[in-house]
Amino acid sequence: MIIAIDGPAGAGKSTVAKIIAQRLGFLYIDTGAMYRALALKVLEIGLDLKDISKIIEISFNTNIELVNNKDGSLKLLLDGRVVNEEIREPRITKIVSDIAKIKEVRQVMLVLQRKLGLQGDSVLDGRDIGTVVFPDADKKFYIDAYFKERVKRRHLEFSGLGRQVNYNDVELDLHNRDTIDSTREVAPLKKAPDAIYIDTTNMTIEEVVGAILKNISIKR
Ligand code: DC
Repeated sequence: MIIAIDGPAGAGKSTVAKIIAQRLGFLYIDTGAMYRALALKVLEIGLDLKDISKIIEISFNTNIELVNNKDGSLKLLLDGRVVNEEIREPRITKIVSDIAKIKEVRQVMLVLQRKLGLQGDSVLDGRDIGTVVFPDADKKFYIDAYFKERVKRRHLEFSGLGRQVNYNDVELDLHNRDTIDSTREVAPLKKAPDAIYIDTTNMTIEEVVGAILKNISIKR
């Protein structure tokens, strides 16, 4: 079974997707983390973001692995190295949408994401899972929240990680990513017609998890 969870940054997708996967005993596939890993490599090599052909070449020659640990946590490997924490840094967040809008990069990720998803029952979260990666997913959800609420959540998340990040910077970053992610030519962020829409603005995480689970029936 494939469960697709799409939506904009800061809507709570990954928190919720991880819990759903754990409760159902499914694999959790964080597709945003995969784009982030590539963004990290681009930064480490020191590539110019305008050098699209070089970024494409790098995407063909990069090994990105997502390993589901037994305790439900996820290990992200970039060319064999664990990069879970680095990919959350603001320097990555700032450039990842520009990398994710490149058609050829998306093609590489699409192949990888489909392969991962077909390993077994999976929950995938991202921007284009229900529309492009798994258009035939068994269940699709589109998780949303008002812009200000998403900014607040992202800012809290950074503080929780002990990072001093300016509120206005978070707001600007989210605004930029919303714009790039939803207006790009290839696989833009949008709700699949058959996705269930959930506005999480005034909901707790547990309420969102409940709203999703009540729509999923598992035959064992
Ligand atoms: O979910 P996230 O914030 O970790 O995602 C990082 C970026 O990756 C996001 O700004 C857009 C891109 N992305 C995408 O284009 N398609 C996906 N399926 C997942 C993420």
